[in-house]
Amino acid sequence: MSPQPQAAVGAPLSRVDGRLKVTGKALYAAEHDVDGVVHAVIVDASVGRGRITSIDTGAAEAQPGVLKVISHRNAPKLPYRDNSGSNNPPGRRLRVFQDDRVLFHGQPVAVVIATTLEAAQHGASLVKVGYEAERPSTDLHEAQADEPTNYARGDAEAALRSAAVRMDLTYRTARNHHNPMEPHATLARWNGDKLTVWDKTQWVVGTQTELAAVFGLETDAVRVISPFVGGGFGTALRCWPHVVVAALAARETKRPVKLVLSRKQMYLGTGFRPSYEYRLRLGSDRRGRLNAAVHELEAETSSYEKFTESVLAAGQMLYSTPHVSQAYRTVPLDLPTPLYMRGPGFQTASFVIESAMDELAHKVGIDPIELRRRNEPSEDESNSLPFSTRRLRECYTVGAREFGWDRRNPEPRSTREGDWLIGRGMAAGVYDTARMPAQARARLNADGTAVVDAAATDMGPGTYTSQTQVAADALGLGMRTVTFRLGDSLFPPTPPHGGSMTMASVGSAVLDACNQVRRQAIQLAVHDRESPLHGVPADDVVVRNGRLHSKSDPARGETYERLLSRNDRTHLAADGSFAPPSGPERHSFYGYNATFAEVAVDATLGLVRVRRMLGVYDAGRIISPKLADSQALGGMVGGIGTALLEHTVTDHRDGRIVNANLADYLVPVNADVSDLRAIYLDGEDREADPLGVKGLGELVMIGVAPAIANAVFNATGRRVRELPITAEALL
Ligand code: MOS
Repeated sequence: MSPQPQAAVGAPLSRVDGRLKVTGKALYAAEHDVDGVVHAVIVDASVGRGRITSIDTGAAEAQPGVLKVISHRNAPKLPYRDNSGSNNPPGRRLRVFQDDRVLFHGQPVAVVIATTLEAAQHGASLVKVGYEAERPSTDLHEAQADEPTNYARGDAEAALRSAAVRMDLTYRTARNHHNPMEPHATLARWNGDKLTVWDKTQWVVGTQTELAAVFGLETDAVRVISPFVGGGFGTALRCWPHVVVAALAARETKRPVKLVLSRKQMYLGTGFRPSYEYRLRLGSDRRGRLNAAVHELEAETSSYEKFTESVLAAGQMLYSTPHVSQAYRTVPLDLPTPLYMRGPGFQTASFVIESAMDELAHKVGIDPIELRRRNEPSEDESNSLPFSTRRLRECYTVGAREFGWDRRNPEPRSTREGDWLIGRGMAAGVYDTARMPAQARARLNADGTAVVDAAATDMGPGTYTSQTQVAADALGLGMRTVTFRLGDSLFPPTPPHGGSMTMASVGSAVLDACNQVRRQAIQLAVHDRESPLHGVPADDVVVRNGRLHSKSDPARGETYERLLSRNDRTHLAADGSFAPPSGPERHSFYGYNATFAEVAVDATLGLVRVRRMLGVYDAGRIISPKLADSQALGGMVGGIGTALLEHTVTDHRDGRIVNANLADYLVPVNADVSDLRAIYLDGEDREADPLGVKGLGELVMIGVAPAIANAVFNATGRRVRELPITAEALL
């Protein structure tokens, strides 16, 4: 088939669902309504570890409007079948109301269901729970670590001993919570043995399989609907216990139940980026050529599940290093289980490695960009595979030029404007290009409109828009005549809306489905004696604005509408799919960036202000430049949060999170964000997927925190190895 003209892909279009969102017509999970809905409020454990000794529900049950209180004392035993889907880590997942154990502060211990939200809230406040409390273990730096996961090539310890330049650096990162604007919410309704839930989720298929496993149902007895998600960053990649609570409450009361987590409850069991302690030892020659790297890291997990993330990959492939050893230990704590948060693993590794590279550059007296260039590998040294595309050198060149890197004084604490110390820093970023099997269905109607469906999610990156762009060009239709639908487990299955794989995986399935439909139409036309295209080689036909025509003779053609109605076809339809090639990969797939930051640090008060940032991205083809900018700027804002503000604080005496609210857990506001700019290297990655994209959503946050930390060092001469970088650390 002839390649289609690309009109929508690559155009800076506004969101197709923008109007729905700004007029409040886009319905988020808690905004759906069904007849007879009642409300559920969870009672959270007030000890950090122990056993429930008593539950007094009398006062709650006596309240007008309260229908039922469910706890382990009266909850039915649930099957909780094994489920490898829904991002359940290895371990024994938290089983709500199945026993008297308290595994962490804030664990659900009861739920109150009432006819109004107010009655449920009041009822929950009246439930009296007695505990036999034990002292929880919540401090990463105090607790015993698990056996490590190891990686090694060469002999890193020996190479380190003989290295001309040695660094031994320990970094710490804070626990971060996702804090999307929309809290988690679930509306659950049973119809006999069939369950429908409207849920905030980044993976309707994952939530569907988990609910089926927990309640012992066939997968297709559960339907999960999630058309709009108000931010996620990873928190909605798993079906959490509160979703089970909502479904259980609906089953026990025989009423549809709505359950909305409070902001505080968003900290108590919907995942977080674990805190790390990460020791990195580097050995190099006097010219900064790396010879050895030893990574020893410890990260939080829960006592009941072992959560791990891709924190080792960057240390194996970002820089040429003959000798590498890594030991990654999880530390089980009396906390809920962590989960992926934007740029999982890579974000943490990047802070450590990119801070250390800046320290090495300073120590050997080489420009930080030049140091990175000297250590650029020619292949992926972890598996000897060629990179599909790796344009990190170009990121450095473009970034240095556009940021004005040559105007930076490498001498720390050398630039001052009044009370402010000015500094500039940079970092490289890397994130893997994940792809997973996905499906989509396309239907072209006789009226020249089309509908494309996939179970995918849109937590904010603009899936509705970007998939419509892909579909519109593949079908040869205008954006307004194509409707892309998502967020329903009845639609063809897709992988998690995370790991930056939606564009590559779902987009390629959409492309396939729409290509098939266009091919059907072209075949119909060229074999139809009444078509002006009869006898034209199929390869010579393209479609533009709903009109099929010969490329060599554009006057020869007709519209989909005419073709289909003349042939008495109500529609043409096709199921499309995408899967990465089976068997071992033949390339190493990553997206890259160079991130630059300029900061001003108040010399007296230690306050850090990010004055400007620039990110240059090697992310493959950019489908939707306007949405890409929203991603990139959002990623930089998220990175500013991690670098300077975000820190979940636990009181280790009782395991309570003391800042479980948006007043005390700081996230960047407009005043923290000034001049942000994103540049994308033009091009595509043909090895990665048919669209040539490498994923952008995570990549844009990686490199931000170390670029800021390195700029703070350049401004102040102070090396802060602990995130967030606080004013106190700079005094
Ligand atoms: Mo992202 S952590 O994969 O939602």
